[in-house]
Formats: sequence, C-alpha cells, structure tokens
Amino acid sequence: MTAPVSPASTSSGTPAAGAISQDELKAQVGRAALAYVTPGEIVGVGTGSTVNKFIDALAAIKDQIRGAVSSSVASTERLRALGIAVFDSNEVEELGVYIDGADEIDHRGFMIKGGGAALTREKIVAAQSRRFVCIADESKLVQTLGAFPLPVEVIPMAARRVMRQFEAMGGVAQVREKEGLPLVTDNGQHIVDVTGLRISEPVAFESEVSQWPGVVTVGVFAHQKAHVCLLGTPAGVRTLQFD
Ligand code: 5RP
Repeated sequence: MTAPVSPASTSSGTPAAGAISQDELKAQVGRAALAYVTPGEIVGVGTGSTVNKFIDALAAIKDQIRGAVSSSVASTERLRALGIAVFDSNEVEELGVYIDGADEIDHRGFMIKGGGAALTREKIVAAQSRRFVCIADESKLVQTLGAFPLPVEVIPMAARRVMRQFEAMGGVAQVREKEGLPLVTDNGQHIVDVTGLRISEPVAFESEVSQWPGVVTVGVFAHQKAHVCLLGTPAGVRTLQFD
C-alpha cells in the first residue's frame, strides 16, 4: 500500500531520499485526527488503511476515551487487539465524531467510499455522528466524483438488475470478486463496482440509487458528507472545512 508521492519519487517506485511515502501521509492524518477526539467520549471509527493508522494512534490515548463504535469486523478486531472497547451502534444514541477515510472526496465534502466493502456500516455510523472527519492522502481529492469505481452493496439476487440499471446510465458494472468468487460483505451481501460514471450531483444521485430495489447502500456519501477533511500532503496536513 506504500506508493511514492510526486514530485520527489524515483522511477523504481520507491520514495526518493527525503520524499514522504503515501503510508506516511496516512499516518500523519491518522495522528492529526486525534485532535477531534473528545476525552470521555465514544468515537466512531471507519475502515481502511488510513483508519488503521488512526486506530494505532488512538491506542496511545485509549485511557482517555470510553471506546469506539466500529464500522467493520476488521476495525473491530484491530480496536480490540489494542485494548479499545467496542460498543454496538445500538447501544449508543449519538456520537460526537466519526473518523473515516475515503476513496474520493470533492471540494464540497462529498465522497465515494466502499473500496474496503464496509460502506453500509460506515454510512450507519456516520449517520449517528454529529461530525464526519475524513482522513485521506492528497491523491483522494478530486474535482468530480467518479474516477474511482463506485461501490454499491446489493442483495445478491438483485445484482444483475442493478448492473443493468447502471449500464443504462452509461456505466460499466461488475460484481467484486475475492479468490474467484463474489466477495461477501460483513452483512452477507455482494458489491457491484461501477466505472464510467461522472457524478456531478452527488445528493440527487445518492437519493435515486438508494431507492432501487435490492440496493443496500450506494457508496456516494452526500447525505452523510464530511464536515472536515484532513488531507495528507508532503508539506503537512491540510485541513479542509466544509461546514
Ligand atoms: C472502506 C472505505 C475506506 O474508507 C476507503 O476505501 C479508503 O481506504 P484507504 O484508507 O485504505 O485508502 O470506504 O469501505
């Protein structure tokens, strides 16, 4: 997962001397997100390689928080391994902050998420949080959503129909696979990934696709957009405010 960050990179694909790796940019924003954690509270925790850096940083202040609500089995396991209590989302009415990564984020705080197949639980925890703090390296910032394949969690029997609907919109859809079989999410469902879409109106798009029969969750996060984005850059962490 470590990739060089331009301009200071070598043709061999390893960071040049003095360059900051993508992994280090993720670690930077993971640490920076601690500033948004309120002592004594339960923290909403997302999923992915950037969030893993946040979880590792959170472990250093675990005695100052009550615990976390997690958005995936993978994050739950990592949190518990580090001694951080994990609460069921039904046990907690509201969270102050949700910290999560993104596959793409635009200048309004709208995102594509679900590269790690955790989009449904991510949207649930985001919805129960007052503030969404997105942590990402600068490669995730885009003008318009849609270059990253859009993940959509679907009930398996609806997959083909949903794919045809995306194809009618000009997209190219395929069922995500793992080891030659359809990937099964933490919720027992499948993921359809859609390329070729340019999502210029994310709020309307999310509303429409969410209504299609068999769609569990569409990976556009517009209704649950980010309020803040901590963007890792070679010059340091850049804070984008959307509220
Ligand atoms: C998982 C997600 C992740 O937040 C997204 O894929 C970004 O992951 P990473 O930090 O590994 O780039 O939505 O479902």
